[in-house]
Amino acid sequence: MEIYIEKNYNDVSKRASDIITTLLKKRPTAILGLSTGSTPLKLYNNLVGKFKKKEISFKKIKTFNLDEYLSLSPTDENSYRYFMWKNLFSKIDIDVKNTFFPTDFKPNYKNYDKKIKLFGGIDLQILGIGRNGHIAFNEPNAKFSSRTREIFLAKTTIEYNARFFKDTESVPKKAVTMGIKTIMEARQIILIINGENKSKIVYDALFGSVSTKVPASILQRHKNVIVILDKMAAQDFKK
Ligand code: GLP
Repeated sequence: MEIYIEKNYNDVSKRASDIITTLLKKRPTAILGLSTGSTPLKLYNNLVGKFKKKEISFKKIKTFNLDEYLSLSPTDENSYRYFMWKNLFSKIDIDVKNTFFPTDFKPNYKNYDKKIKLFGGIDLQILGIGRNGHIAFNEPNAKFSSRTREIFLAKTTIEYNARFFKDTESVPKKAVTMGIKTIMEARQIILIINGENKSKIVYDALFGSVSTKVPASILQRHKNVIVILDKMAAQDFKK
């Protein structure tokens, strides 16, 4: 595991977008795993900037998103498809036919994993971490052997994500998430984290015991993970 502690969110996003840029230049047909949430916003913005400067093209890539709320339509502004469209896909030269979401495979989610395999597997997976240690929507106690499937969101996740909705009641109770095993099969993973409110869980995930109580702790067992975080998120490292 390589760990980079950056000054701030801008630098976290810059390092992550530079790694993706290098990959896309070397492998224009790369398969990317994408995440949502507030953390990757600046990273996506940087990639749009590099596309506009003609440094990179997304024409031949394929993308697989980590997760999606079950009951939201793709045009709902809280759906992750809408998020990806708004923040990345509408601003680059990607072919939308090459962008995949697990809910598209309902109810045969096994076919999501099959599709990933069919294309040769994910070259690079972008990951964030939830405040309860979740990766994608693999909540605490999810099995490390899990595959893409429907899940019930943890109460903590519903409360945390309520900031994007009218109120807590409007947050869907169920979602579809890539499984932990599916995520671990990616050839490379970039975990990006910022902000003080993630410092404790990040410490537990990176340095605590590998346990289903903290799903992100499984990343300690992946051979090629780059963790990029800002000083605030790394503040518990010294203690
Ligand atoms: C969300 C997503 C995750 C994301 C995480 C962190 O609920 N399902 O894929 O990594 O929670 O979100 P944020 O970056 O907004 O803190």
